Amino acid sequence: MQIAINCIAIAKLSCHGDAMNYKLQGNLKKIQKTDCAVVTVDQSGNLSEFARQIDELTEGKLSATLKLGDMPSQAGNTLLIPIPEDKTVKRILVVATGEDEELNINRYKKCLESIYSAVNAANIKKLTLSLDGFDTLDKSDHWKLKALVESFEAKTYQFNEFKSKEAPPVKLKDITIRCAEDRVDTLDEALQTGIAVSQGVSVAKDLGNLPGNVCTPTYLAKQAKQFAKTNPEFTVTVLDEKEMKNLGMGSLLSVSAGSAEPAKLIIFEYQGGKASAAPHVLVGKGITFDTGGISLKPGEAMDEMKYDMCGAASVFGAMQAISQIKPKLNIVGIVAAAENMPSGTATKPGDIVTTMSGQTVEILNTDAEGRLVLCDALTYAEKFKPASVVDIATLTGACIIALGHHATGLMSNNESLADELLVAGEEAADKAWRLPLWDEYQSQLDSNFADMQNIGGRPAGTITAACFLARFTKKYPWAHLDIAGVAWNSGKNKGATGRPVPLLVSYLLNKLAA
Ligand code: BES
Ligand code: MN
Ligand code: ZN
Repeated sequence: MQIAINCIAIAKLSCHGDAMNYKLQGNLKKIQKTDCAVVTVDQSGNLSEFARQIDELTEGKLSATLKLGDMPSQAGNTLLIPIPEDKTVKRILVVATGEDEELNINRYKKCLESIYSAVNAANIKKLTLSLDGFDTLDKSDHWKLKALVESFEAKTYQFNEFKSKEAPPVKLKDITIRCAEDRVDTLDEALQTGIAVSQGVSVAKDLGNLPGNVCTPTYLAKQAKQFAKTNPEFTVTVLDEKEMKNLGMGSLLSVSAGSAEPAKLIIFEYQGGKASAAPHVLVGKGITFDTGGISLKPGEAMDEMKYDMCGAASVFGAMQAISQIKPKLNIVGIVAAAENMPSGTATKPGDIVTTMSGQTVEILNTDAEGRLVLCDALTYAEKFKPASVVDIATLTGACIIALGHHATGLMSNNESLADELLVAGEEAADKAWRLPLWDEYQSQLDSNFADMQNIGGRPAGTITAACFLARFTKKYPWAHLDIAGVAWNSGKNKGATGRPVPLLVSYLLNKLAA
């Protein structure tokens, strides 16, 4: 059954009524009227320049309060000081930056999240904040502002499409950031990029969080078509099963063989650069539900396999961000969408299929389906004569064993591409970590009956999955991102994270400078 929802995923962005506004204020001498001035204090009680200005304006209110010993000390602790008598600044929110040693990214983010929570809890609509309070963090103001926007926007994210009760609206409306007058232009770019990345993250989260009975390959194809309608600089092509069969995509189609939902290959094309410039291609694994097929998964937490399309969701998210930033680059997004189900028509262990590349595969485990859809999408990518191809996939449980939930697994056939992605991940606080892709691992895929088998046994499961893909990516610089450990959170806070949209956008935008 198809549930009708008015306003989801990409469509939702256009009807997002209660967005927050960000404003840069270049005149540092003047303190403008605000509901709340956010100031920082370090462990020794040192006030930032802005904090001193606020203290002066409020006739020592801040320093007097801190002298009482009410100074919060741990990073992210906050203290709200109401000043009902003051006409300009109605409240001061003091945030502790923690130990006096240099601020790090995690402590900075913690401060931002606490600011948002404290302000929201107090129903505050307008706040003014200065980046000078975070000057012990060794990053540019550009970086700090982008991170601020991304943190605040992530805090407002909710997924309530299937709740009967409406969620309370976001109260914070206006955020003013003080900065030097001559920095307003460059920082405005940081602001716009931060907003675009946040929207991309939000799209990726929405698509990931949608249940498998709504978010089918057909649904994703419809969302992509809808996206192209509202973003005319994009063309979207959708290949159906018949067209994929004609292209020889026997591997991709073997995955959807057991499902009532037909597979779709979705192609986004964005031309922001010269017509002659080779495009950068992103390829996403879009298994809208992975039961394992005939090699059925155990029941525990199987619901989380609705997230097996988070690679695809990150491609949608990156396209959303690109549509806002409009960089002078050519970019292609490919989504290989299918549902992996057991049935009388499903692929069986031992079945042999022919890929679009002509290579044959013995399918020994139908639960290793991600590589089966990706290999044909990666061969299809050759037609764009790409400058680079990056695939993004919730590919192996083994990646969670290797890297846990902090880093994306990165494997590549190209040193500089691998380095660019590592740098982008660091920069976007959306980290990746490289694993080797040595030839020694390839023999684990030897098959007695076909050119290769689709599993390589327990040792180095993440690497052998990438080794499989490497056999289809010889014609271009290629990298593989295994996001099995980072794409969603389990447990009480179950939900998609939107990763690695920030990494992908940083990676693409860095191409502009290169
Ligand atoms: N989608 C899964 C990988 C996965 C599992 C991601 C759990 C995140 C959490 C993938 O299709 C899969 O089932 N992989 C198998 C491969 C194996 C059969 C070689 C796996 O990891 O067990
Ligand atoms: Mn699987
Ligand atoms: Zn899967």
